[in-house]
Amino acid sequence: MQLNNNPFYETLLKQAQEIRSTSLSELILQENRETDFCFTSGPLWIDISRHYITLPILDNLRKLADAAQITQSFSALASGKPINKTENRPVLHTGLRQQERRTTDEWQNLASFSDKIRANKDIHTIINIGIGGSDLGPAMVTNALKPFHGAQKIRFVSNVDPADLNDTLADCDPKTTFFLVTSKTFTTAETLKNALLAARWLKQANINPSNHMAAITAAPHKAIEWGILEEYIFDFADGIGGRYSLWSAVGLPIMIAIGNQNFISFLEGANKIDEHVFNTPLHKNIPIILALLRIWNRNFLEIPMHGIMPYDQRLSRLPAWAQQLEMESNGKSVDIHNNRLDLPASPLIWGEPGTNAQHSFFQYLHQGIENQSLDFLIPRQALPCDLPDGWQESHNTLIYNGLAQAEALAFGETNTEEPYRNFAGGSVSTIISWDKTDPYNLGSLLALFEHITIASGFLWGINSFDQWGVELGKKRAKELETPEGRSNFSPAAKRFLSMLDSKK
Ligand code: F6P
Repeated sequence: MQLNNNPFYETLLKQAQEIRSTSLSELILQENRETDFCFTSGPLWIDISRHYITLPILDNLRKLADAAQITQSFSALASGKPINKTENRPVLHTGLRQQERRTTDEWQNLASFSDKIRANKDIHTIINIGIGGSDLGPAMVTNALKPFHGAQKIRFVSNVDPADLNDTLADCDPKTTFFLVTSKTFTTAETLKNALLAARWLKQANINPSNHMAAITAAPHKAIEWGILEEYIFDFADGIGGRYSLWSAVGLPIMIAIGNQNFISFLEGANKIDEHVFNTPLHKNIPIILALLRIWNRNFLEIPMHGIMPYDQRLSRLPAWAQQLEMESNGKSVDIHNNRLDLPASPLIWGEPGTNAQHSFFQYLHQGIENQSLDFLIPRQALPCDLPDGWQESHNTLIYNGLAQAEALAFGETNTEEPYRNFAGGSVSTIISWDKTDPYNLGSLLALFEHITIASGFLWGINSFDQWGVELGKKRAKELETPEGRSNFSPAAKRFLSMLDSKK
């Protein structure tokens, strides 16, 4: 069912019109706001009090979710039904976070390989070559958990721009470097081109690439054909979508970086949120409530963009990961029955870590004409730093800034005399907070984002698990490789190509 066909759509639309005339400040200061709109899920504390919502609105949103049969959709996902209809696949990534996985051969192989690499004093650098879901998640988590790293350096190369591989290899020694080629399909042009160059770089130094390259893929036969040794191939199921894959063998760089025990803790944190989403009644189900807020802001209050601002420098890649997660999942224009959507789905997702973001685009958020919703992600404690005294205060400053921005954007400040100093306020945001960024808490945070994405996809009636939209660009880029293909391009494109050719 599309959103506008939901029996509660019209009532909510009316409530949205009414609440637009109320000031956000008034709402926030209403009695019991901090108990009615602050929740806990696992290690996460979530404050949605700075939104244009009231208890009657939230109640109708929950009824909308119920009418959209969201509980049944999550049950279909959990029971392995092929809910990704266009690819006829189930959605299996939550299974990877269950304890039972750790008794399987798949897990044993991964864990013993990760142990072996970590113990190998002759390997100093591990480089993951992959793109999209085969890069963003593992790179983001590896960076986020730096204080838990072992002695080896873990790096990531994604872009087909040779500068990426070039600069990454600049201070590496082929004798002590090991590559993980990560590609679900093992057909992605960018990854295969980088892997080929990496193999040549090893060969050039008289190193046999077979001893220095492993593959992580759902297409093991393709990796074997490519030249990877069978014992160096780690596979995962087709039902694990690229952008949901960091929990699978795709997480091997994370395992090598932080060790198996910490990776287990990361999986356990995610599993805690899975248990919550699968087993909690609708009215207390936090990921579903947050998904309802996405829909409320996007479709009822017509807010087209959603910013994700981690007040945690080590989470600097989280917005990029969340962009793929939400926009590749829900950037769709047809429903699961192939009917055109009447209402838009995913908002535009973007973000940067605070406080850097404040000195960049926050001006636009405070005084621009457009409207946006935001997530402030705030760990309350810093992990120990090897700095002289004063770093604890720096962390407090960071946290105060996050909270202050949420309040400033919501309340604004009136200045009628100097309009350029007037802050209209009325900007909505959620605070998601946890104790410190350790593997367990991070696992919970990421699973929360995944479930918000999936739940909002269910509410929009779309397939959040395919990504056909990226195919056209790949096809057109391939066409440029042949003269016949080039004939399909526009006159301006041909002019650009002739400039390129004349440079050769
Ligand atoms: O960009 C499209 C996409 O298919 C993503 O969904 C995926 O994460 C990425 O390419 C990489 O694909 P693969 O892991 O197959 O190389």
